[in-house]
Amino acid sequence: MPDRTMEGFPSPGSASRSGDPSGSVPRSGDAGSGSLAPLLVIEDLRVNVASDRRSLFGRPDPVYAVDGVSLAVAGGETLGLVGESGCGKSTLARTVVGINQPSSGAIRIGPERVDASTPNGANTLRSTVQYVFQDPYASLNPRRTVRQSLDEALEMRGVPRAERAAEAGELIRRVGLNDRHLDRYPHAFSGGQRQRIGIARALAVQPQVLICDEPVSALDVSIQAQIINLLETLRDELGLGYLFIAHDLSVVRHLSDRVAVMYLGKIVESGPVEAVYAAPQHPYTVALMSSSPIPSIATRERERLVLTGDLPSPKNPPSGCRFRTRCPIGPITNPERQICVEKAPVLAETPSGQLAACHFAGEMSMSALATAGSHEKE
Ligand SMILES: Nc1ncnc2c1ncn2[C@@H]1O[C@H](COP(=O)(O)OP(=O)(O)OP(=O)(O)O)[C@@H](O)[C@H]1O
Ligand code: SF4
Ligand SMILES: [Mg+2]
Repeated sequence: MPDRTMEGFPSPGSASRSGDPSGSVPRSGDAGSGSLAPLLVIEDLRVNVASDRRSLFGRPDPVYAVDGVSLAVAGGETLGLVGESGCGKSTLARTVVGINQPSSGAIRIGPERVDASTPNGANTLRSTVQYVFQDPYASLNPRRTVRQSLDEALEMRGVPRAERAAEAGELIRRVGLNDRHLDRYPHAFSGGQRQRIGIARALAVQPQVLICDEPVSALDVSIQAQIINLLETLRDELGLGYLFIAHDLSVVRHLSDRVAVMYLGKIVESGPVEAVYAAPQHPYTVALMSSSPIPSIATRERERLVLTGDLPSPKNPPSGCRFRTRCPIGPITNPERQICVEKAPVLAETPSGQLAACHFAGEMSMSALATAGSHEKE
């Protein structure tokens, strides 16, 4: 087992936590939790983010920021979720915890379907799935001490008043702070300490799943490593499942067992993290990997694929394959590939064991970067 502490990120080529990636074969058509029993299941979720208010011209057309996403997270495992800004990661995460309402699809906790719009469903979600925000300040009430914030969560869990002080002490120590921090207000803490408090508050309800939405991107690099180490320890000790959203592909690789790649509201590739990082099958994943300073990839391949154009708006997604307007091997460079314009590719298993949604999956490898699309030397 390689050293996975975060004093730096793992050495190039280190194995995933699940060991042999082929030992966890995903199911066809979704980003399933491999061989483990799933705790959180997201089924074919669609989320309309168009304003619900009627205008002079009637109800606006739907805007699906999440459009048919299926994912699953098992206890003790981390599913990394990556994709460029605006692709729908937070909308997906916010819908899972009931902040946004889905237009269709289902969320299950184990076998039970939960509907966040009902009081029962909202309760089930609150007690099972907790959100760790990018900015912990946003999730902490500035007018409440740490003790008061934890107390509120413990009360919600039904912990008797007499036991709450002891539990608050345990929680704060578990995240690496100590009892004298309990009676201070959030403004008295550094960003890293605030994130620890945000995590303690999330843990107070004894959740089974944490959704971590860019939990370290606002922190100094040295502090990032400490928080990642803490998350890793908590996951392993408490058997938590994580949906871990981040832009930093090295962090995702370090922490995740599996990874899902999102583009314009859809999952375009998913699978065991080492398989996807070693041999991405979707051209968008290849582009993401090539633009990231992942040590093993940077030293192996000096070419960098630069995607042209911006992410299209979910208001008006391209027909067929949503990536076709930027794809280096699609109809822009190969006009005969009309199938990319006409038919949306579905997630299907590839020979290397992951799922990819591309009519020409696997055609573009990292080593082929030098000859495909727009590229530049590092
Ligand atoms: N309430 C809203 N009203 C209108 N559009 C929205 C709303 N929430 C999200 N969107 C749109 O949905 C898309 C997805 O946004 P989202 O915040 O989920 O992306 P993201 O992947 O989390 O991006 P980032 O990496 O920057 O956090 C974007 O086009 C965004 O503009
Ligand atoms: S389906 Fe076509 S446009 Fe889409 S990613 Fe594959 S090759 Fe590119
Ligand atoms: Mg986001």
